[in-house]
Amino acid sequence: MPSLRSVKFNGLLNWYVMARLSDAFLDDLLARTDIVEVIGARVEIKRAGREYSGRCPFHDERSPSFTVSPTKQFYHCFGCGAHGTAIKFLMEYDRMEFLDAIEELAKRAGIEVPHDAVRRDSSEDSQPLYAALDAATRFFAEQLHTSSSARAYLDRRGVDEATRERFAIGYAPDGWEGLKNALGGDAQRMAVLDRVGLLSKNDAGRVYDKFRARLMFPIHDRRGRVIAFGGRVLEKEDGPKYLNSPETSLFHKGRELYGLWQVRQAHSKIPQLVVVEGYMDVVSLFQYGVDTAVATLGTATTPDHAELLFRNAPDVHFCFDGDRAGRDAAWKAVESILPRMRDGRQAFFLFLPDGEDPDSIVRKEGATGFEQRIRGAMPLYEFYFNERRAGLNLATATGRGAFADRCKPDLDKVPDGGFRNQLFARLTDTVGDKLWLRKTLGASTSASGTRASATPKRSLVRSAIVLLLQQPALALQLQTPFRFAALRQPGIALLVELLQLVVQRPDIGTGSLVEYFAGRDEHAALQKLAMQSLPGDASTLLAEFTDAIAQLDRQTLAQRIGELQLRQRDPGLNDAEKDELRALLSSRR
Ligand code: UTP
Ligand code: MN
Repeated sequence: MPSLRSVKFNGLLNWYVMARLSDAFLDDLLARTDIVEVIGARVEIKRAGREYSGRCPFHDERSPSFTVSPTKQFYHCFGCGAHGTAIKFLMEYDRMEFLDAIEELAKRAGIEVPHDAVRRDSSEDSQPLYAALDAATRFFAEQLHTSSSARAYLDRRGVDEATRERFAIGYAPDGWEGLKNALGGDAQRMAVLDRVGLLSKNDAGRVYDKFRARLMFPIHDRRGRVIAFGGRVLEKEDGPKYLNSPETSLFHKGRELYGLWQVRQAHSKIPQLVVVEGYMDVVSLFQYGVDTAVATLGTATTPDHAELLFRNAPDVHFCFDGDRAGRDAAWKAVESILPRMRDGRQAFFLFLPDGEDPDSIVRKEGATGFEQRIRGAMPLYEFYFNERRAGLNLATATGRGAFADRCKPDLDKVPDGGFRNQLFARLTDTVGDKLWLRKTLGASTSASGTRASATPKRSLVRSAIVLLLQQPALALQLQTPFRFAALRQPGIALLVELLQLVVQRPDIGTGSLVEYFAGRDEHAALQKLAMQSLPGDASTLLAEFTDAIAQLDRQTLAQRIGELQLRQRDPGLNDAEKDELRALLSSRR
């Protein structure tokens, strides 16, 4: 029954299936999908030339900066930088899971999703795991009904019946084999219980219940399925206060938020989220009417958490203890959210008085009192600057220099947009001297706060990339291997990578081509280049493209000739190189 191998295998299998689904199938699916129709059914967009435009659904705005391109198969917002294919749109706007978005588009386009792909995704292999967790949830709920001490504990803490139901709170009985005996009937069932983290094993090899004499808080995933538990002791001396399920193939604590399922049940559009530290904080806040609370599971806020939070709500309020530990935890959250502060997203920090937590506050002050505190929370930039300024004397040049040094790496992580400009303006105000600051911050930041792009400007390489993004199929007209791949110029490696991608995936559209670079430095630049709309029909584009490539080839030739000529005298060329130089020189003529 050692389960590690099967868990790993299971994880790999899902991964493999996802990977298999991608490329050819996805390219074809997107090529047959009318992105205008998909987005137009959800957002008001109007025709404007070759494209469609409207108000961006991902941030608040009055004038339309959201564009949908039917030929390039992507959407782009000039305001907040939202960008992607029809698949990404469904994931972001309808908050669908990847495979659900695929199925939805496939249904519209009338094509079949390869059955082994969807059917054999997590759902089939994990089916027994979900079933076991569901059975365990019911077992714990029954046990709560029969345990007067557990019910007395909840009574004492003032958790009412409706809240117990809403969070499916239960009780794991004392003793060693309650769950094991109830649900582990045979070896196969035992193996499943082990895979979902409900069993422990001692040195002598004896297997027993992991959770004993604990109040049980089921942790739900985004679709409302139980994937893990948190268990709280009733008596102080019975081990650690909270025990969480271990990581399993279904549960990764750095990616889940306790309460998110309940928040989503309560709202069709979540206005804001309040992030707290504990299970009981979430439970009490809900009971008192603050039904937007979620908790991290005994971990710091991870980058995955940050992404999940902002995907669900534009405004996120982090709530921490006022002590040093709380400030440290808040800073961890800052590090996870800075790279995700796109336009339209806001973060706030609330620090509670010593000895209080959201549970105790909401019981004393009610939802009104708690919400008032939330409204008074510190905006991200304020908390950020307070922390960065700590221990420095900004009245001195040394202090200001150290301050700018501390901020610079952070500023580089923040995406272009309003928040970055705000940070930059703040920094300028504090440090005072704009020119000096610009020098200190270096070339990566201009006074307006926008970054110099990594791709070369107005070069041949750049025009080749723009043309290719306009019409990816142009790549199929070239002969491989690409001679110009040897050219030492910025952007060449990117151009070659793009070309190879299209050669491998001949049906790929602009949207997917750009998305392929998600998470890489080139992504933002490619998004911008892809937005350019070039005049001319297919044959003009092809002529311009082949011309640009021919020029690059000539430059490559010249580069090699120059290299060989440079070495001709010293240290001299060998016979093969002499032949090569002669051949190159004659081919140039
Ligand atoms: P706290 O110790 O602040 O407890 O832990 P709490 O949430 O106020 O709990 P109550 O009110 O005493 O019931 C905050 C969170 O840290 C994690 C849990 O997720 C908990 O909700 N934690 C805490 C653990 O994982 N293990 C522990 O032993 C303690
Ligand atoms: Mn508490």
